[in-house]
Amino acid sequence: MVKCVKCGAEIVSGSKFCPECGEPVSRVEPPTTELRKTEDRFESAINSTGRYKVRKLIGRGGMGLVYLAYDKELGIEVAIKTLPPELSGDARSLEQLRQEAKLSMQLTHQGIVRLYDLKEARDLRLLVMEYIPGFNLSDYLFLRGKLSEDEAWEILTAVASALDYAHSQKVIHRDIKPSNILFKTTRSIEEVAEYYQREKKFPSDVEFKVADFGIARTVSDSVSRLSNMPVSGTLTYMSSEQIRGKRQTSATDVYSLAVVAYELLCGHPPFYQGEITYQIINEPPDLIPDIKPEYMQALLIALSKDPEQRPKSCMEFIELPKKLSADKSKWALIPQAPPEPARAEPYPAQMLSQPEPAPAPSSETAKKKSSARILVISIGILLLLGILGAGGYFALKYTKGTRAFILGKTEEAPKSRVQLLWSAGKNDPYSSHKARVSALCISPDGGIVASGSDDKSIKLWSAQKGKLIKTLEGHSSALSALRFSPKGSILASGSKDGKMILWSTRSWDLLNSIDTGIGELNSIAFSPDGAFVASASSTSIKIWDVQTGKLYKKMGGLLGTSARVLAWSPAGKTLASGGLGYKLKLWDIETGKDISTIKGPEGSQVYCLAFSPGGSLLASGGSDRDVRIWNVSEAKLVQSLSGHDKAVSAVVFGPDGKVIISASADESIKIWRISGGVLLESIKAHPVSSLCLRGELLASGGCPSGEGTSCKTGELRLYKINW
Ligand SMILES: Nc1ncnc2c1ncn2[C@@H]1O[C@H](COP(=O)(O)OP(=O)(O)O)[C@@H](O)[C@H]1O
Ligand SMILES: [Mg+2]
Repeated sequence: MVKCVKCGAEIVSGSKFCPECGEPVSRVEPPTTELRKTEDRFESAINSTGRYKVRKLIGRGGMGLVYLAYDKELGIEVAIKTLPPELSGDARSLEQLRQEAKLSMQLTHQGIVRLYDLKEARDLRLLVMEYIPGFNLSDYLFLRGKLSEDEAWEILTAVASALDYAHSQKVIHRDIKPSNILFKTTRSIEEVAEYYQREKKFPSDVEFKVADFGIARTVSDSVSRLSNMPVSGTLTYMSSEQIRGKRQTSATDVYSLAVVAYELLCGHPPFYQGEITYQIINEPPDLIPDIKPEYMQALLIALSKDPEQRPKSCMEFIELPKKLSADKSKWALIPQAPPEPARAEPYPAQMLSQPEPAPAPSSETAKKKSSARILVISIGILLLLGILGAGGYFALKYTKGTRAFILGKTEEAPKSRVQLLWSAGKNDPYSSHKARVSALCISPDGGIVASGSDDKSIKLWSAQKGKLIKTLEGHSSALSALRFSPKGSILASGSKDGKMILWSTRSWDLLNSIDTGIGELNSIAFSPDGAFVASASSTSIKIWDVQTGKLYKKMGGLLGTSARVLAWSPAGKTLASGGLGYKLKLWDIETGKDISTIKGPEGSQVYCLAFSPGGSLLASGGSDRDVRIWNVSEAKLVQSLSGHDKAVSAVVFGPDGKVIISASADESIKIWRISGGVLLESIKAHPVSSLCLRGELLASGGCPSGEGTSCKTGELRLYKINW
């Protein structure tokens, strides 16, 4: 069993993130053999240079891996990025790369990550760069949800000045996006975010640096050419001229910078769902509610489809809101640029030297048509892969079969990431529950699924085979909650009559039976260290000492409070509760007092609650049919996910905290990407009352399909999710 380096929790093999603290497992567990082989190969290629010694893997992009390495000759740390091995065999790609690297190496600016060298190591090409300790803007935005105009502009001003400098040196970036904007700092990402919220400015020791000048897009262009794909890499930040393969200028960077600005202020980029390429070329962006109008106007101008209508430099874009607010008379003149006509472009005067991609070599109409179809399909696939990929990338396969692999999939529906492993219900009348499955949990080692039912019993199933191992009897009313302790040694079960039982998972003996007081017991949550367990009922929220079974604390003072659902924060200091209609409260465990209250939609009920693995977000679902994501520190709504036709009964965060799974009585389980609120997948399931996620295993419990919530056999399913 592997242990998490950060919190010590045990991690089920195959998990990508620690179930307790969300730490990526790649840092503690060797990745799958195939990946491991690639990494070994890359690492040993870098070490074979004699000059560079790999310290650790620090990043994965769509085109390669980024390592922290030690430069023995200069005695400094450097970042080394591996380029796709395919390029090494292609003279044209290598020549373009060399040209681009030569230009980029000449850039010296405090806002630009220095490129030191383009190296050959065995069959690999390496980019040796300045190492930037810290994190990237994509991670920062994810943590914050959205930024204020001032916060966004502080970052963007630094980026704009770096870009204008590069443009003056005839270098266009062509791949401006949040993950290429780095925060150079020794502080943690949370510390920087907190500092900004407190001081309304970034710490003076944080520097913003732009990475991957020119080269990133040169590499992805070569990859598209070699694999006959129309475009590779992230589409979201591309301008219409880039998508259409037209000549690119500094105005291309102005556009991408505006996309980043839009995303920072809105939480998602202007075009990110559906037919992205069509929208980039033809459609105006949606207006962002709640931002100052002069910022929205500036964004609209910089996002013009016609490069000539955009601000002439990045700094001009940055200064535009101030100018616009000073002179409101100009506003009426602001054009919403019409779609670019499909004619030869009048190239703007400030055009810089960028080689135009070679035109598709095809003359016959039939051939044209079919290649156009492949193009459309391929773009579709890329979009799909782009949307599905966590970073918006399609991961380049380092195999010869890349093209066949991608094109071969074109006519098929996208493959589901969810696979049903087994189910227990109507098909298994002897062992399954005699009523709705109302509570569920999976043991931390992923070996056991425990289900609790309105039939008053608890059943333990082998996760691997779906076989019933044992039935636990001890409750005299319907089960309402089940939780394994973080280390897995205890199972806590709660029933409507207020009884909570702690079971030993070694012997399945009853360790303790606790009367939690009057009122229906609704929910149970363990503290992350496993020392305490909290119970929520219609009259109280109480915390119990697991060892002694004694009451440790009651939330809300003498009068107490009621709650339907509970979640314990991953850091252990706060408890979140939901009840009384749609009122969410955060409680300080230490004092027993409430820290903040969040009100959901009027007249609705909250049914489920979950903390993100990092603890910065809280998700809730209820009778209003939406999944709501809240920023915990500001008690603010970050995202509403609409799509369920009936009340949302269960929500769980994906292991990386970027994805959320929701279930409902509408018989569907939905997987969403939080950023941008994109529905990734909807699975036809059954009326679900409860969900539990452990690494790749997702259990759902409720009633069989077609039956409401008062069923005569409970339904339990175990799915595997390929994150
Ligand atoms: N010079 C660098 N110093 C430190 N970290 C870097 C550097 N370059 C890239 N990274 C990190 O590695 C990650 C992967 O980089 P990359 O391969 O360029 O992909 P992408 O930019 O699409 O994320 C980046 O997101 C960034 O956080
Ligand atoms: Mg990059």
